[in-house]
This record gives sequence, C-alpha cells and structure tokens, in this order.
Amino acid sequence: MEPPLLPLFALSILFLSSAASHSLSLKEDSNSSPFPPNFLFGTASSSYQIEGAYLADGKGLNNWDVFTHKPGTVTDGSNGDVADDHYHRYKEDVDLMEDIGVNSYRMSLSWTRILPKGRFGKVNQAGIDYYNRLINLLLSRGIEPFVTISHYDIPQEAVDRYDGWLSPEIAKDFTYYADVCFKNFGDRVKYWITFNEPNVAFIRGYRIGIWPPGRCSGSFGNCSVGGNSEKEPFIVGHNFLLAHGSIVELYRTKYRKIQGGKIGLASHTMWFEPISNSTEDKMALERAQAFYMNWFLDPAIRGDYPIEMREILGDDLPPVPEVLKRIKPSIDFIGVNHYTSYFVKDCLYSVCEPGLGSTRTEGSALTWAHVNGRTIGKPTSLDWLFIYPEGMEKIVTYIWERFKIPIFVTENGVGWKEEPNLTIEEMINDEDRIDYVRAYLDALVTAIRKGVDVRGYFLWSLLDNFEWTDGSQIRFGLHRVDYDTLERTPRMSASWYKTFIALHGFGPGAKPLHTQE
Ligand code: BGC
Repeated sequence: MEPPLLPLFALSILFLSSAASHSLSLKEDSNSSPFPPNFLFGTASSSYQIEGAYLADGKGLNNWDVFTHKPGTVTDGSNGDVADDHYHRYKEDVDLMEDIGVNSYRMSLSWTRILPKGRFGKVNQAGIDYYNRLINLLLSRGIEPFVTISHYDIPQEAVDRYDGWLSPEIAKDFTYYADVCFKNFGDRVKYWITFNEPNVAFIRGYRIGIWPPGRCSGSFGNCSVGGNSEKEPFIVGHNFLLAHGSIVELYRTKYRKIQGGKIGLASHTMWFEPISNSTEDKMALERAQAFYMNWFLDPAIRGDYPIEMREILGDDLPPVPEVLKRIKPSIDFIGVNHYTSYFVKDCLYSVCEPGLGSTRTEGSALTWAHVNGRTIGKPTSLDWLFIYPEGMEKIVTYIWERFKIPIFVTENGVGWKEEPNLTIEEMINDEDRIDYVRAYLDALVTAIRKGVDVRGYFLWSLLDNFEWTDGSQIRFGLHRVDYDTLERTPRMSASWYKTFIALHGFGPGAKPLHTQE
C-alpha cells in the first residue's frame, strides 16, 4: 500500500514555525515524494491581472482595458491600470518566487504590450525587451517560464476593426502575434499555452454577457450591445479553434524542430457529481463535460466535437476547422485549471428550474453547487467556489482516461474577500487557504498514484491580483498586496508552500521536463 500523504502534509505544517529559525533538513523525506521526478511546482498569474502599467512604454489598449473603464462593469469599480504594478516590480516578485523555491512560473504575455495594434501596427520593442528581461531573470534563478500567449486579452484594434472573436480574422491576428512571440522568446520558452480558458471567456463574453464584449440575448442576461446567446458562443468558439490550430501548425512547421518546445491549451474544468444514480443524471454529467470542457478539448485533440454536442446542436455547430484534423492532436499537454465542483441534474428527460446549463444550447444539464438543499462542499466568500477536493482527483482522472495526454494543473487556489479592520497578522493568516491547497494536492496525489500522468502544479496565485469583474477585493495571493502602497507581505500559505515544495518537490538533479521524452 502507498504511504499516506497526509502525515507528511501535517508534518510540513509543524515545520512552519520552526523552519525559519532551525536548520532542519526538510529534504529528508524527499525519497518518498509522491510526485514524479522533474515535476513542475509553480505559481500562476496573468498579465492583465498583475502588470498594471496599462499605457506605459507604448502599450496599446486591449479589450479588458476598455471594458473595465466602463462604469458598472467591475463590482468594486477597480481596474487593471495599476494592479500589482508587476511591470515595474517584477524583480521583487521573482525574488518572492525564488524564496518559495518554485521551479516554474506560469505567466501570460500582454498582446498589446507587444503589438499595440495587433497586426495593423508595429512591434513594440519596449514590450519585447520587458518580457526578455523577465524571462531571462526567471531562467537565471532556475525558474522555468510556462507562457500563455493570451489570457483573455485581445487588442482593442481587433474589436474595433472586425468585432474580435466574432470574425475569423482574429485567427490571422493571433497567428501573427504568436509568430512574434515564438521568434523573440522561443529560444528560451519551452512550454506554451495558446489561450487561457476559451470556455470561460466565451460563456461570459457571449452567452451571459458579463465579460467583454458583454454580448447576450433573451433570458441569458441584459446586454445593451446585443448578441445571440444561443449562436455566438459557438461562432467565437470556432474562430478560436481556427486560431489555436493555426498557431500550433505554425509552431510545428517553423519552430518546433529548432526550439523543441511543447504547446498546450488551458481549460477551465469542473467536476460534476450527478445528483442521483439515475442513468439520466449520469448522462447529464457527460453532457455537462461535453458542453463545458470537451467543447474545446475534443476538437483540439480528437479533431471533432463531442458526440453529445453533435447530437443536440446538429447543424447549429460550426464545422471543425480543417487545420485541427490535419494536425491532431494539436496539443502536447492539457492545462487543467481547477477550483471547484458542482452537482449536475438531467434536464433532457426531466423538468428543471432555469439555471446554469439547463438550456438546450448549454447541454440540458443543470449545474450548481446547491441542489435540493444540499451543498457540494464548504462555501467560500466567492459565490462560485466551493471546496470539494475529490473533484480534483476525479477531473484529472476523467481527462487522462479520455485523452491520454500529459496534464499540468495550470491553476488551483482559493480566494477570499478581506474583512475590514483586520490587523496585518490577521490579514496574512490564511490557514483556510493552506487547508484548501493541502486537500486538493492530496487528491491530486491520489490520482497520480493511480497512474494519471500529471507533470506539474501551478498555484493561483503568487500575489493578490485584479480578479476580473470581482475587482481587487477578492484575494487569491500567497502574498498579500496592499493596493495603496503596493507592498507585498507573505501570507502563512507562502511559507507553507515553500516547506511543502522542500519536502515533496523535485529532488536533486531534477531537469526541466522538456529535456525528457
Ligand atoms: C482564471 C484566472 C482567475 C482565476 C480565479 C481562472 O479561471 O484563469 O484568471 O483569476 O480563475 O477566479
């Protein structure tokens, strides 16, 4: 029987207070590490959420710059103009990573820092220089850059000229941009992600309309700019798949041989627990996965949409771009962003109250954390995030069994709203976060021990950051950021993660994964 992980986790907590003052050999137990050799342990972030400097050094406007400046779009009225000012403070932030002892960092590039007007203008050398400085610094500290080409941001120029994702033109812009990235950074960046969470970006932007460009119709939301919630998500999804395929094809033909990197796609993932043992509710689980995650993973890997989508949507589903059939599987790894799980209930054969997932174009599978008076897990101050660690084990197992492609957990973490009038000691006491991360890592290890090929884990996030339409009030950081002074203060979770990595992380002589087969 495998040794249980929990005592070691508990041990790492015990070490917390003494680790700083005593020279304990925390690696003593590393022989029993449940993680494969060369496992990547990192933190994750995205450019808009941390960089700030929104008009500095020639950067152009992106869709989020423009959206957050519209009154009423962000709950607390904040925006990413300054955020954590990571653009100017990246050295300090890399020091924080080095102190934790991570061997990798998931970051994203700001498209308009590099191409202020997409392909309709010049390359901004200041943007290239900035990312070169950051990448070089990371590598000099032994931290592998894991780079997302776009984490939701697209140039406003693309929106103004041709409605952004609604036009297949976006594929040309994205490929042009990716070419600039591969050319300038690909000698050092060996892990690329084309786009972060197309499912979230398109559901929120084009079905319920709460994210840019704020489009929706009918009962899905109240959108002044128009939209078609039943059709547009699939049109933009198609254009995204075109862009993704074309970027990967470009990398494979022009760069892969010389640069030797790998490309993946990061999906937001949910585990869904059927509300009953009925066949209908179990089928609803498959439909929920099809319409949420496999909508993109299936075409990207298998070259076709999931059968559940085909059956329900028929001709309403745009064709899979030819490029994805040519290059399948188009990804070398799957980026799994996982935070929470919901119940799922069938709405094809039984009547459902209206709610997330219940309509035909969402797959007729109602999903939410509360059903029939039951809650799936412990609530947090985020209305969408419930603590259900089993979901981590189940989702990576499901993905591995379906696709047999290596997995990196590219995001996992928990955020809280800070109560007013706390002392600094109280602000940095985040035992709840430690409990969450410990439990989710434990569940991940259970999957790894069963043979699921997981190669890395990126904790969201190094710093508190701009949490999209929830603004700056929601804090996901291992470090607290004082938004008046921009001072970073490590929370208890930062020392916990440091101790955890020292105990269980990559052992001596570990090499970056891209050097292995
Ligand atoms: C997104 C992040 C976001 C995090 C927490 C993820 O789905 O990729 O940008 O901050 O969730 O909400």
